[in-house]
Amino acid sequence: MSQLLGKIEKDRLPRHIAIIMDGNGRWAKEKGEDRLFGHFHGVESVRNIVEGCAELGVEYLTLYAFSTENWDRPEYEVVGLMELLVSTIRKEVESLNKNNIRLHVIGDMSMLPDYARKELNEALSITEKNTGLNLIMALSYSGRWELLNAVKNIAFEVKQGRLTVEAIDQDILQRFLCTSNFPDPELMIRTSGEFRISNFLLYQLAYAELYFTNVRWPDFRKENLYEAILDYQGRERRFGKTSEQLSN
Ligand code: IPE
Ligand code: IPE
Ligand code: MG
Repeated sequence: MSQLLGKIEKDRLPRHIAIIMDGNGRWAKEKGEDRLFGHFHGVESVRNIVEGCAELGVEYLTLYAFSTENWDRPEYEVVGLMELLVSTIRKEVESLNKNNIRLHVIGDMSMLPDYARKELNEALSITEKNTGLNLIMALSYSGRWELLNAVKNIAFEVKQGRLTVEAIDQDILQRFLCTSNFPDPELMIRTSGEFRISNFLLYQLAYAELYFTNVRWPDFRKENLYEAILDYQGRERRFGKTSEQLSN
């Protein structure tokens, strides 16, 4: 067993880990390769981290794979990413199933090309009954898109007379988010040395512990994940209270 793994307290694991998988393009450029080469190698990290989370018993893993803003990248990169997504899902769905992993997707699916949406929907239904790790892919996702969508849908319910303004509370709001079935992430990891959220889970990360590493996503492996979890386990989560209140 790895030394780091042995130090993790299994009864204090984050239930939900969210990751901004960043740095594929730079990783490739540093090797004199095309950006798509980096995305291609990023898939290996996804496989490794999904396996690592499943082994540990983490319940939810959200991976930021493509943001609303990423649609504005050069067309060849967008097309390359969509093709990679489809071929990866096709290749991996069997092993997800074998490992009892359930796939979920959050984001604006209407933006995806038909062939990608079809492949995804199939994978969602194939893994629907699995009860192990919940693997949530954020695709064509952004926090602002999600919040706007929630506001519109709540307004519609009010207009239809099914909801009153007075009844809207945080529980109701949360029900209108894409993540209504998942607990908030306790730990958010971003790779590749950028210190920002880039429109990821703006509402849900309110009290998440943030962990940043310079490691580029294609180099990120289980050991790096363990390091992040250990860092998380060393923190005091106060939720606005004082340290003294927590120890009482
Ligand atoms: C993250 O890597 C993957 C996606 C956003 C799809 P990047 O493609 O952003 O890589 P860098 O940040 O340019 O190195
Ligand atoms: C965030 O990375 C989105 C994903 C990892 C999918 P970006 O590379 O798009 O973010 P910025 O542009 O550096 O903020
Ligand atoms: Mg980036």
